[in-house]
This record gives sequence, C-alpha cells and structure tokens, in this order.
Amino acid sequence: MNWGFTGYGRIARKFEENLAHTDHKLVAIASRSGYDQIKAPIKAYQNYKDLYADTEVDIVYVNTTHNDHCSQTIAALHAGKHVLCEKPLGTSESEVIQMIEAARANDKFLMEAIWTRYLPAYQKVISLVKNGAIGEIQMVHANFGFRMNPEDPKERLINPDLAAGAVWDVGIYPLSLAQDIFNQYPQNIQVSAKLSPLNVEDRCAIQLTYGEGQVAQLSCAIDLNSVNDATIIGSEGSITLRDFWKCEQFTLKTTKDSKDFHLPYVSTGLYHEAMACATYIENNIHESSLITFDNSRELARLMDEVILLSRSKEK
Ligand SMILES: NC(=O)c1ccc[n+]([C@@H]2O[C@H](COP(=O)([O-])OP(=O)(O)OC[C@H]3O[C@@H](n4cnc5c(N)ncnc54)[C@H](OP(=O)(O)O)[C@@H]3O)[C@@H](O)[C@H]2O)c1
Repeated sequence: MNWGFTGYGRIARKFEENLAHTDHKLVAIASRSGYDQIKAPIKAYQNYKDLYADTEVDIVYVNTTHNDHCSQTIAALHAGKHVLCEKPLGTSESEVIQMIEAARANDKFLMEAIWTRYLPAYQKVISLVKNGAIGEIQMVHANFGFRMNPEDPKERLINPDLAAGAVWDVGIYPLSLAQDIFNQYPQNIQVSAKLSPLNVEDRCAIQLTYGEGQVAQLSCAIDLNSVNDATIIGSEGSITLRDFWKCEQFTLKTTKDSKDFHLPYVSTGLYHEAMACATYIENNIHESSLITFDNSRELARLMDEVILLSRSKEK
C-alpha cells in the first residue's frame, strides 16, 4: 500500500519510522514547513493539492493541526484517496459527520488515528474486560498530562485558531478509553478546567456518569506531567495499564491473584494501526471495527460538551 502524508511534523516522522517495518511504501509528502527535509525517492510537494492528485498514493495520512483535519480529509476523499486522519478526527461533531459522509459518498476508507486501540497490550486488556475477567465494570480512572515547554510553547497547542488545548490534544485518550470500556454515552458530564490566557484548556478534570451509576474519572493537561496510567475497576478485580495511551504493560488483580502482562509493540506502536488500515482496505472494508464511525462521532460530541463546559465556566 502506498502512503502520502499531508504534514511532516513530529508524529509524521514517527509514522514514517513505523512504516519502515511494514511492506508499505511512503511515496509522497506534502509539507509547507518541512518541504526541504523530504528525502528522495519520496516525492516532495509544497502544496497539499498536488499530493491528492498523485495517482501513486493510495492512502493519505493527515497529520496537521486539528483545525485542518476536516478540510484536508474531505479533499483527499473527494480526490479518491483513503484517509487515516490523526486525532481528533474533527473539531466538532458536525465536522466529523461531514467527514464520514465524504468517506461514504466516495466509497473510501476513513479512520481516526487513535493508535492505542490497535496496540497488542491494549487489545488484550479489552478482551479480558469483555470476557469478564474483572466482573462488571464500575469505574475507570485515566490521566494523560504532559508539560509543554513553557518558554517555547508549540503554537498548535496554545493557539485557539489551530484548535489547541488539552482536551483535543490528549484528553481524547482517556475519553476514548472510557468509551471503549462502557460502550455507551454518559448521562452526566462534570468538568473542572484551568484555562490559558487565550481561553483554551491547560488542564481539565472530567467526570462522566453512566446509566447504572458507573463512573469515569479522567484528566488531561498540557501544562503538567501527570502519571499517565489508567485503572479499570470491576466487581471482581482491577486492571492497571501503565502509560495507558502507549500501553505495553498492565497488571490484572483479582481477589485470588495478581498477574503482570508485558506485550510489546513493533517499532513505536504506530505500526499496528498502519497494518490495520492495509488489512481493511485490502478486504474492501471502509470503516474500522475498533474505532467505528459512531465511536468518532460520539467522541467528538463528548469533546464538544467538555470543551463548552470548560470554557464557559471561567466566564
Ligand atoms: N498518535 C500520536 O501519538 C500523536 C502524537 C502527537 C500528535 N498527534 C496528533 O498528530 C497531529 C500533528 O501533531 P504533531 O505533534 O506532529 O504536530 P507538529 O509537529 O507541531 O505539526 C504537524 C504539522 O502541522 C502543521 N503545523 C504545525 N504548526 C502549525 C502552525 N502554527 N500553523 C500551520 N500549520 C502548522 C505543519 O504542516 P506542514 O508540514 O505542512 O508545514 C506541521 O508539519 C495532531 O493532530 C496531533 O494531535 C498524535
């Protein structure tokens, strides 16, 4: 399968490293700022439109700032490309709906790149949970926080015009975990946020309550290094995932036993989502079974609500 990238920043370079472990080819990159760093034989474009027109490209990996995901994904789909788009798929539920409609109208594959869902350790956790290893799930605790360089903050993390802020950047990971575990939309959402001077979340604590009283307590931050573990608590035990968003290790505890698991991933882990995209496309399947269109739409709706609550509280 032949890949093309729109954007050539930090995650694109990691993705390139992971593709080197597959039999896929990175054939072209369109980048405004990284154009000079693209090395032959990869074709270099300064204009994204030239990439969409490249007949050698099967799938476009959209890895630009959040505000650009929707327009670039739709343009690539209309040009007849499959698309893997970095998280968040769009910056509102309505954008995500438009993106899904474009994928369906063009009969092309589209997936939000929540790579965690494809990691071997994470998949093992989900299978244990679904098979009742820790009973009925009652609570999820999950955090994802890092401290951006305060002297030199990345513009894409702080500039509201680029859809910045902790919720879209890292909050999506704990929200995605809670969604995967409870598989229903929360009945109640409580949010407490610390906003930046530009009115985007530096930090956010989120509590979701579900239909039978189950609770997810989640946090995200771009101004604080937190312990990025997650714990899933059931009636018969618990599972703790170390660095859950890039999980390779977890501990399963029941009343009788405690067992450590270590399931390493290939390269830096993005390999697994790249391989999954190829398998879907080869089998003419245009929607992921692990991050369905409904999953992406509901995550967007949830982030819409969380961000609205965060930003309105301080006013
Ligand atoms: N899966 C993961 O683990 C993971 C990790 C980090 C980020 N991400 C996601 O991947 C995407 C990119 O993140 P990144 O950390 O790779 O970003 P980045 O390196 O800061 O930038 C990626 C690209 O976005 C464009 N860009 C960056 N800053 C811009 C600005 N100020 N104005 C206009 N365009 C700008 C540039 O495109 P050009 O190349 O065209 O100049 C750049 O190459 C985001 O959606 C992010 O949430 C995912």
